[in-house]
Amino acid sequence: MPSTEYAFQRCINPDCSKKQPVHETLTACPSCGDLLDIDYDWNRLQVPRSLREIEARWSRRNEPLEFSGVWRFRQLLPFAPDNQIVTIGEGQTILRNSPAVASYCGMSRERLFLQYEGLNPSGSFKDNGMAAAATHAHMVGAKHAACASTGNTSASLAIFASTTQLFKVIVFVGSGKIAYGKLSQALDYGGKTLQLLGDFDDAMKQVQDVCRHEKIYLCNSLNPFRLEGQKTIIFRVLESLHWEVPDWIVVPGGNLGNSSAFGKALAELKHLGLIDRVPRLAIINASGADTLFRLYEERGLRWSNGRPDACIVKEFYDQLDQSGRRASTLASAIEINRPVNLKKALRTLDFTQGLVRRVSDQEILDAKAQVGAGGFGCEPASAASVAGVRLLRDQGVIAASDRVVCILTGHQLKDPTTTVAYHADDAEQFERVLGRHGVLAAAYANNPILVENDLGKIMDVIRQFN
Ligand code: F0G
Repeated sequence: MPSTEYAFQRCINPDCSKKQPVHETLTACPSCGDLLDIDYDWNRLQVPRSLREIEARWSRRNEPLEFSGVWRFRQLLPFAPDNQIVTIGEGQTILRNSPAVASYCGMSRERLFLQYEGLNPSGSFKDNGMAAAATHAHMVGAKHAACASTGNTSASLAIFASTTQLFKVIVFVGSGKIAYGKLSQALDYGGKTLQLLGDFDDAMKQVQDVCRHEKIYLCNSLNPFRLEGQKTIIFRVLESLHWEVPDWIVVPGGNLGNSSAFGKALAELKHLGLIDRVPRLAIINASGADTLFRLYEERGLRWSNGRPDACIVKEFYDQLDQSGRRASTLASAIEINRPVNLKKALRTLDFTQGLVRRVSDQEILDAKAQVGAGGFGCEPASAASVAGVRLLRDQGVIAASDRVVCILTGHQLKDPTTTVAYHADDAEQFERVLGRHGVLAAAYANNPILVENDLGKIMDVIRQFN
């Protein structure tokens, strides 16, 4: 029986570890200000004896909670009574092989899997986490919710608000820093949208202050309930692999919510004896937003049993400030320099023997074109995971015999501007439309061909196709 009695919020700082009840609305520990986890008294909860037990729930999918790709796993995130759970049908996502992408990455088709989270109702993985955050907002009776976003969180929060009518929504996005597909969603779903004259890092700071002053419910991944929902991406990946643990999970890193949630999911499954080994996690930054890479791979920042060296982090952020360096990548979803979940991501890297890599915009867009050509399609940030696998194969870190899962975090139609500019293979258009320099040759461009409105001319063009 899930019961709010057996779930609580707990500070992740080992020198504090203070507990708070589930019904508090918190995004930081009230005692020391560190991040919070949702923790459970597993001994007093009914835990599935095997993950196959959960599979059986799918046969009852005419019931909304069993249909949900988040809530059919609710025994593994048991913080909410069933009658308060919010769902909009999230988590109907699939794991597939893609021969084209596998060959691009230097792998055989049966070793590489793509977990396609773009199939969620708002077109990104965020709906997994938002189902849990919206449930908690409902439990505490919140009437207003807000987030800062590079676009997908705002789309997700807005769709949950419009579908359920439980609360009203304010979203903060950086002006000119959001792909049109995502902006159009927030507007269409009726979210009050503030285009801040700044970037995501600015918006993240402002929204926290606004939520604190106005007692608005914050739905960014600082909210520990969001991460409970995102754990289910791992559960579904394992389910699709018939509960066989892969060797690698590769995920793009922005605010590091997914990385944090994945580590927690795997640690809990291991603790509960539901898996016997843990995959390695590879987190992929964009080169223009590579804080984690620099801290972890270059400066040696580590989890250190919950006491990472704060001086390394402070020194790095001071340098960012002094040089005025801002995050800058065409993968706008991960254009973030100050990831709020940094500490939890370090914990994940520690637990999974993980690593961090960074890939250029060129590598991201080329990988994205391969994902599309292989039959799926994703937005630029998602393709960082594929570019990351290719790099890790080149470096000999991932072996050809390894089983690898790439998380495709967002739908292809989120950012058509970048896709069309890439395929037009026109550097000037890139600069004009996207306001950035430096994407270079579009190696896999599929140019649209201009043709006169004349049958003969059309046939001339078609005959040149092979
Ligand atoms: N991929 C996509 C498509 C995203 O939208 C995001 C984050 C990420 C990857 C990175 O995930 O933050 O868990 O490391 N988007 C946030 C937003 C920041 O506001 O939509 P993360």
